[in-house]
Amino acid sequence: MSQSLIKIENLSYSYDNQKVLENINLEVMERDFMAIIGPNGGGKSTLLKSILGINPLQQGTIKIFDKPLSKNLHKIGYVPQNTNINTNFPIQAIEVVMMGHIHTLKEQHSSRKPWHKYLSIGYNEFERSCALASLRQVGMESFAYTKIGSLSGGQRQRVMIARALCAHPAILLLDEPTANIDVEGQKQIYDLLLKLNEFITIMVVSHDISVVLSYATKVAHINKILTFHELSHFTDVTRHPSGHFCEVEMLQRMGKGCGC
Ligand SMILES: Nc1ncnc2c1ncn2[C@@H]1O[C@H](COP(=O)(O)OP(=O)(O)OP(=O)(O)O)[C@@H](O)[C@H]1O
Ligand SMILES: [Mg+2]
Repeated sequence: MSQSLIKIENLSYSYDNQKVLENINLEVMERDFMAIIGPNGGGKSTLLKSILGINPLQQGTIKIFDKPLSKNLHKIGYVPQNTNINTNFPIQAIEVVMMGHIHTLKEQHSSRKPWHKYLSIGYNEFERSCALASLRQVGMESFAYTKIGSLSGGQRQRVMIARALCAHPAILLLDEPTANIDVEGQKQIYDLLLKLNEFITIMVVSHDISVVLSYATKVAHINKILTFHELSHFTDVTRHPSGHFCEVEMLQRMGKGCGC
């Protein structure tokens, strides 16, 4: 029987008394490939930030591997929305990926001294070879020593995924990993996620509905409240002859309104 990796019960969240998430209940099982869709401002990023502990719990509970969030945070990898990088910043792809070792450092040294003190020691050969292995996993090993600013948007996103993989997460949360990437590039990223899904549980926020729904095994819609949808509802979306589908049209069809 597959295991429950994330269990959210009765989660509500407000910014400055403005409720953004209301009574969310969600269970993510091992090896799920869950798509999170919904209008701009619907609360998708807020949900991910709650799962990551970036947003403190206000109401409700979140368990990771059946334990309180703080105990198992290191099991989650995160690719944030808008990973725009200053393209003039002289940093190589491998250095970006090695930043993903922070979790590992935190785990190894938490009982001895503050983890951030270890950042000054630089990265060792083991960490470097792990970073290379992560780059290999995403098909970017040959770009390891290329300046991050010289990569295309799709290549840069692969590097961000490699950075998240560095800490060997069991769950990967991605917030719009294919924004500003053309349809071919989107498919390549999702093909990569599908490969990773053989051993990592995936939860991905996306507006690229026609692409994400052809890969997902489950789909949740968030607009303050969360509703689950059968993937079969979207058959005509994912098989639209033009390969394109208007998100606004679909959200209206689902009776949710556009929200933008
Ligand atoms: N740090 C913050 N402080 C105050 N309000 C916030 C903050 N972050 C988000 N919000 C508000 O919370 C609501 C939900 O935002 P959120 O970023 O979760 O939406 P989203 O579904 O990810 O949208 P998008 O598709 O545009 O990324 C929005 O109305 C937004 O303005
Ligand atoms: Mg967002």
